[in-house]
Amino acid sequence: MVQGIVNWNTQTTQKWLQNYVDDWVNFYQKNTNEGEVASYIPILQEANQQHLGISILGINGMEIRSGNVEIPFTIQSISKVFTFIVACIQRGVSYVLSKVDVEPTGGAFNSIMHLETRQVKKPFNPLVNAGAITITSMLIGDTAERKLEGFYQLLEKILGYRPPLNIDVYQSENESSVRNRAIGYYLLEMGYLESELDLTLETYFKQCSIEITIDDLARLGMILANDGEDPSTQEEIIPRQVARLAKVLMLTCGMYDASGKFAAYVGIPAKSGVSGGIVAVAPPRARDHQLPFLDGCGIGVYGPALDKQGNSIAGIRLLRHIANQWDLSIF
Ligand code: DON
Repeated sequence: MVQGIVNWNTQTTQKWLQNYVDDWVNFYQKNTNEGEVASYIPILQEANQQHLGISILGINGMEIRSGNVEIPFTIQSISKVFTFIVACIQRGVSYVLSKVDVEPTGGAFNSIMHLETRQVKKPFNPLVNAGAITITSMLIGDTAERKLEGFYQLLEKILGYRPPLNIDVYQSENESSVRNRAIGYYLLEMGYLESELDLTLETYFKQCSIEITIDDLARLGMILANDGEDPSTQEEIIPRQVARLAKVLMLTCGMYDASGKFAAYVGIPAKSGVSGGIVAVAPPRARDHQLPFLDGCGIGVYGPALDKQGNSIAGIRLLRHIANQWDLSIF
């Protein structure tokens, strides 16, 4: 893409990069007409299907933002990566992995069928609902607020503020999520849950209803790209082993039954949510050519129109384009 030595941190090159990203966001804006905004949680239907935004934050501090960057949205399934991390910190990696496996399902995020037909001894992975609800049951605390305290503390440490709970989304999800209750009862019957069912589901619905922005996602992704360490303070926020495990899960299971395609065509760990957010992680890469963000970056995308798997259509196309242009693939 670029010949010769480039210092990406100069204002001129940053502006040049910004123009490219603006063009790409404008181009992929047309894809927001495809797919549909999630409706199984009624309040999510209020999102504007036309919105598309991206925020990129380099480990070196460089920032590029474009499109609808200011729109707050709920974290939804992206929370699963971070409750998994908190469970590993609180309970130890080997204990967590003895309760939830690390295998992709190849099925929908809210599938129950796989658990029953394949006679598994534990849910497939922490990023599908069955595994995520099991992980939530493992968080320490006897109320939803206490159970979520570790999650809030982790977010606050990374983001520098405590993101709010969107109470309307929580109520809408609590009132409508028959499928998650069915999954919960199945987990209960199988003896997988470590806390009482109603408490576990209340906590799970609340963790999904925390409101964030794409800048937050870019920062969360950037910390994972840097193996859990804050590059400006060198503080270890997430233990390296846990950060790496989270990235493995994102790559193999983070985009549900589209994870294989995402790995093939984009090639970086990512996690989506039904409100249209995606967090993507581009680790540092050693290449002999000159490309931006060689030191690694986190990327947050928002585009609420989803495909059948529950992933943002325009968001994935935009990520794919950027990953190819900048050779972000880890493979
Ligand atoms: O479990 C649910 O229904 C949601 N609160 C989270 C699902 C989700 O984000 C799946 N994403 N693609």
